[in-house]
Amino acid sequence: MSRAIDIIVERLGGLAPTTAVVLGSGLGPLADEIANAVRIPYGDLPGFPDMGGVSGHAGELVAGAFAGTQVLMLSGRAHYYEKGDAAAMRPVIEALAGIGITKLILTNAAGSVDPEMLPGSIMLIEDHINFSGANPLIGEPDERRFVGLTRAYDADLRASVEKAAGIAGVRLRKGVYMWFSGPSFETPAEIRMARLMGASAVGMSTVPEVILARFFGLRVAACSVITNLAAGMTGAELSHSETKDMAPVGGARLAAVLKTMFAEGLADG
Ligand code: HPA
Repeated sequence: MSRAIDIIVERLGGLAPTTAVVLGSGLGPLADEIANAVRIPYGDLPGFPDMGGVSGHAGELVAGAFAGTQVLMLSGRAHYYEKGDAAAMRPVIEALAGIGITKLILTNAAGSVDPEMLPGSIMLIEDHINFSGANPLIGEPDERRFVGLTRAYDADLRASVEKAAGIAGVRLRKGVYMWFSGPSFETPAEIRMARLMGASAVGMSTVPEVILARFFGLRVAACSVITNLAAGMTGAELSHSETKDMAPVGGARLAAVLKTMFAEGLADG
């Protein structure tokens, strides 16, 4: 792990960002807005995930100035459903903590469980339900594994996202994200259950990263781009291509929020 940290620190030169952003589906283009970007392919970083398989995910760390503030963006994430490894992103999160990142903003694509939260909406995650049965800290040897998640989503960072959305003129929903393992989509019965349990959106990522980030002491904010109404809510079958096609629509909105957050100095909040 220290090898990855050493490589990142060396390639960043004098850059010392304190905020990192994980770019989910539809957010990838944001990394192209970084000025004087330093790009490090995951393949150069020992322990980082091999992004070979999934289309549309580059697998690259991009750092530089974004809207006038230093940032580190992660383009491409590993999912639990790829290899059954809930800790697949552990080397990434650990390296971020190791190079001095203190705040992590996670983004994802998600299905809406709320009939009034339509595709294209942006949802600030206030809390989550881990419905996967998996946990990235299983097997962690010492008592540090008993991580408290009462305040998993940092109140100050959430307030900053809300403020940025207000300035950017983007309507921001708020809700609970429920993590299903995937890769199959949910059934209509599972979505009815999710709604009864208090979920607003469902997805296949982010939660293990939140747990890891809290384990390594990072403050966390997370936002979903709603790409579809969840299973059984329309007559249609769900598909990954629908997710990929719809992600850029809300993605552009979330990108505007994040840009405002950095431009207004709110990412430091
Ligand atoms: N379910 C799970 N993950 C998703 C969905 C969904 O409906 N849409 C985008 N990611």
